[in-house]
Amino acid sequence: MTDRQLLRGITELRAAMIETPVVALSHELDLWAKLEYENPNGSSKDRSAYWILKSAIERGEITRDSTIVESSSGNFAISLANFCARLGIEFVPVIDPNVNAATERFLRDTCRRVEKVTERDASGGFLSTRLAAVQRLRTELDPVYWPNQYANLDALFAHYRLTGGELCAQLDRLDYLFVGTSTCGTISGLSLRVKQEFPRAKVIAVDAAGSAIFGDTPGKRRLPGLGSSMRPPLCEHALIDEVMLVREQDAIRGCHELLRTHGIHAGGSTGSVYAALNEYFGSGALAGEVPASVAFLCADRGRAYADTVYDRDWVREQFGFDPHLELTPSA
Ligand SMILES: Cc1ncc(COP(=O)(O)O)c(C=O)c1O
Repeated sequence: MTDRQLLRGITELRAAMIETPVVALSHELDLWAKLEYENPNGSSKDRSAYWILKSAIERGEITRDSTIVESSSGNFAISLANFCARLGIEFVPVIDPNVNAATERFLRDTCRRVEKVTERDASGGFLSTRLAAVQRLRTELDPVYWPNQYANLDALFAHYRLTGGELCAQLDRLDYLFVGTSTCGTISGLSLRVKQEFPRAKVIAVDAAGSAIFGDTPGKRRLPGLGSSMRPPLCEHALIDEVMLVREQDAIRGCHELLRTHGIHAGGSTGSVYAALNEYFGSGALAGEVPASVAFLCADRGRAYADTVYDRDWVREQFGFDPHLELTPSA
């Protein structure tokens, strides 16, 4: 494949990227959900993966012989695997034992080589071990490109230009935006765009309890999506008014409530954001005559969480409650 063909491949990927819909939910708030799970690989990570690859190809940092190496056990790896396959370039994902079975199968089916680390680092997690594996691969492979999703400004630009540009065009008014955080690519790009177009809008960052991004004491996290064991450099660019930390049991409650009351079958991070916005407004804040206009992203689908969030036995075992019994019975 010539580099010109690589550029043509990027044009074809651009054509596959859609404008994701925004839907109004029936709620006391004027509540809007942007369905990022409608992206080609089912998550908001398609935005950053596409923009990072496109920009690096245009700058000549990725050529037809390059191998892409990245540490990700989740949605970003899925997006990169699919887009690299479409572009005809190699991708080596570095994963750890927390990867869910369906994601690992997809990565092994799509990529010729998958690196799975098994040793825990000093903090008890796998982040440092995964990053060490990335550095080893960077010396072993040549030419090699490392997207470095925690620090790559193209992830910010992706959400500024694509997700944020769309959201601002889709809404006439926006008072509050709730955004989940991990690498902080989404919140940095979205917050910059939204504050430009709706200067009075407040941006609420929603993170997992036990994540180090906003200084919480590191703790066990079972659900992928939100949180990080370090503060990502991209976070420094985000315009954040308030931070809310959500426990995993409340994220699960949020997921089940979203499904039962709005028919939205989304992943754990979306449940966290939905739980956070309901807690934020409580009942008192809804007393105003004109309900606040509030938006959030549905970052990925619930299907990958069938054995966790949506498995009542797993939830009972891990957290000691039955999510169905807590829901208001339908009329
Ligand atoms: C499902 C889901 N939601 C939210 C996020 C957070 O996005 P970001 O990494 O841009 O902060 C991620 C990141 O992996 C994710 O996979």
